[in-house]
Amino acid sequence: MNRLTTVILAAGYGKRMKSELPKVLHKVSGEPMVRHVVDLANEVESDQVVCVVGHGKELVEKALMDKKVNFAIQEVQLGTGHAVKSASDYIKEGEVLVLFGDAPLLSYKTLSEFIAFHRANHYTASLISTLFEDPSGYGRIVRDAQGDFLRIVEHKDATAEELSIKEINSGIGIFEAEVLIKALDSLKNDNKQGEYYLTDVFEWVKLSGMPVGAFVTSDSYEVMGINDRMALAEAEKYHQTQIKKQIMLSGVTLVMPETIFIEKSVQIGQDTIVEPGTILRGATQIGSQCVLGPNSEIIDSKIQNKVKVMHSKVTESSIDDASAIGPFAYLRPKSRIGKNCKIGDFVEVKNCEIGDDTKVSHLTYVGDGVVGKNVNLGCGVVFVNYDGAKKHLTEIEDNVFVGCNTNLIAPVKVGKGAYIAAGSTITDDVPENALAIARERQVNKTNWSNKYQKNK
Ligand code: UD1
Ligand code: CA
Repeated sequence: MNRLTTVILAAGYGKRMKSELPKVLHKVSGEPMVRHVVDLANEVESDQVVCVVGHGKELVEKALMDKKVNFAIQEVQLGTGHAVKSASDYIKEGEVLVLFGDAPLLSYKTLSEFIAFHRANHYTASLISTLFEDPSGYGRIVRDAQGDFLRIVEHKDATAEELSIKEINSGIGIFEAEVLIKALDSLKNDNKQGEYYLTDVFEWVKLSGMPVGAFVTSDSYEVMGINDRMALAEAEKYHQTQIKKQIMLSGVTLVMPETIFIEKSVQIGQDTIVEPGTILRGATQIGSQCVLGPNSEIIDSKIQNKVKVMHSKVTESSIDDASAIGPFAYLRPKSRIGKNCKIGDFVEVKNCEIGDDTKVSHLTYVGDGVVGKNVNLGCGVVFVNYDGAKKHLTEIEDNVFVGCNTNLIAPVKVGKGAYIAAGSTITDDVPENALAIARERQVNKTNWSNKYQKNK
């Protein structure tokens, strides 16, 4: 098998986006467009992936830091042909696949069919084309009377007759490396934009007597180039629809899916129901038979089976089987909730392990703690974890009952089975099975009111 080098063009300015941010870093389904393209390049088993960067290159390189990708620099943006040439250190032999950093919707299925089409027919160069009802802005595929490929003409260089062609160039191409290098060397920039066009390579190959393949895909959305914010919004809608289709077909119910947002990295188990207004992001894994939402956001979290999350936000946390979160709870990073727990309304949890069967029903702050099993934290309990300089730990052992409006001044430890009276401010450790009361005794002044009224 030939060695496959994939070159991703991501050096352009993206003027039509009207943005400080390089175009390829605008997000689709929560991830910069170019990251989707790099993932695809790796999925089709490229031997090496090279991303051509230029405009905003530090930002683009940073956005791809964790990916398997090399970088080539195009100092000045002289066109797509010039951009591929900037990667010539990497393209000596084998096959070269060119993808565009601003075309993030291409699927693995279409791309691998295209590569197979190119190989099976022994073409020297192949491209993906499609038919667009409104082809404006795209390069057009010019064919002869027999329907054979002749060349590509860019929108800006096209005659009125050529502008009426509805078959467009996706920009995605695959080439024999040696031929590509020669063709790139021969490119001229005598066109309206004064650029070296990659598209002219196909005509060069054709005129040199070598076969050019045009793979016409019917999934025209997939090859859409994202040049402005209108296209970005359309891409988002399409990409989300694809992700949610896969999820629904795998046995997950999405109620009013058009109101739900799910990133491609999220995994969801069978018979889970996702309700309207719910957002699932990052490395989130969700078990089966959960109910998520309405209106919840879960980020980089691991959720087991039969969990409920209602009107709540969960970040970098884990929730074990059959626990219920919300409405209106906030689990901040490193919250580890056990089985069959309840974290109720207006409860905030941060960096805290909570044991099985524990209930934190309302209006409570649980920060920097270890809470055992079957504990009850009453309404308005506060883990006073911060002294203005350092954070301290609160430990609560199994079967403890903490009354309402208790302040636990950390570091502090409450032993197994202890009770804390409502309204206490606990500054010292509480021994096992003790009752701690830490508040002023109540004084009732009899008939006080009558005397007060008389003296007024
Ligand atoms: C390009 C194609 C056009 C095709 C369309 C599909 C050319 C000449 N035209 O046009 O036929 O229909 O894509 O979406 O190839 N880039 C660089 N360096 C440069 C110029 C561009 O890296 O000097 C990158 C851009 O960052 C972008 C990609 O190449 O990711 C495409 O460039 P863009 O300017 O968007 O090309 P189009 O005008 O859309
Ligand atoms: Ca484009």
